Amino acid sequence: MVDKMLSITYQCQHPSCQVFCKKGEFVMTESYFKELTDAVEDEDCFKSPPRACRMGFAQQYQAVDVREETEALAAAANAPEKIKDPYNIFYILSEEHKSLSLKLDAMEMAARKRDLDALWAISAEMLNEILLHSIKKEEDALFQVVERKVQSGSFLMPIMKEDHIEFVSMLHGFRCALQDGEILDGVLSTLLVNLRNHIRKEDDEFFPILSEELTDDEMKELFDAMKLIEETHIPMQHGERTAQGLSPFIEDRTRMNAEISALKSLSSVGGESFCCGCTST
Ligand SMILES: [Fe+2]
Ligand SMILES: [Fe+2]
Repeated sequence: MVDKMLSITYQCQHPSCQVFCKKGEFVMTESYFKELTDAVEDEDCFKSPPRACRMGFAQQYQAVDVREETEALAAAANAPEKIKDPYNIFYILSEEHKSLSLKLDAMEMAARKRDLDALWAISAEMLNEILLHSIKKEEDALFQVVERKVQSGSFLMPIMKEDHIEFVSMLHGFRCALQDGEILDGVLSTLLVNLRNHIRKEDDEFFPILSEELTDDEMKELFDAMKLIEETHIPMQHGERTAQGLSPFIEDRTRMNAEISALKSLSSVGGESFCCGCTST
């Protein structure tokens, strides 16, 4: 049976937390949400997913609103005026987020079926998309403009960059394990939550602020820069999973997994945090 996708609007119950994660929205599977709600006693509350709390703690969040993601909801997000402007880079970036979200869903499915080769293929496509979208278009083009001129949105940029480093690192670690015939479920569940949360932050908070501040000329300039990036981007060829040999991180990962298991009870559900221990991208 297909796991439903839910949008959950939350409110952190920590009395004095003033950081960015206090309120917001997650998109996650119904089964994962149940796992998080089962982890706390209070009704209408759930345990924060790993890394949701920017202070690094497992917090209790109140589920203010829970609704099933529907096609209508996705369609509503595509405001007609966004489509009319041909240089609206934020509309284009948000469309790319949808493609990434579909790949996340596909990875979740392949992990349930324990299909290593499907995971290898989907994660390779995802890595290529992320390098083009997050690193080249966002960091190398958009963020450069934000740094130069956008005042109100610039405080969010370090958070976006930090997210990028985290999920590229996790994806790389996850793929190293696939190479060695292993599926790191904890890393995958953290990657799914982090990347879905990152997409939500960009679509609902970061991009709307930036689109208010950028002029038409700057939008056009960014559109041209991103178009050039896309035209000159050469996707990496990842080859067959079993033709790669063992990853250089297999011994490190065995040791790290043991350490992470020991720490798991101290952190959030699925708090396997990072990856196999490698940090390179
Ligand atoms: Fe993005
Ligand atoms: Fe991003």
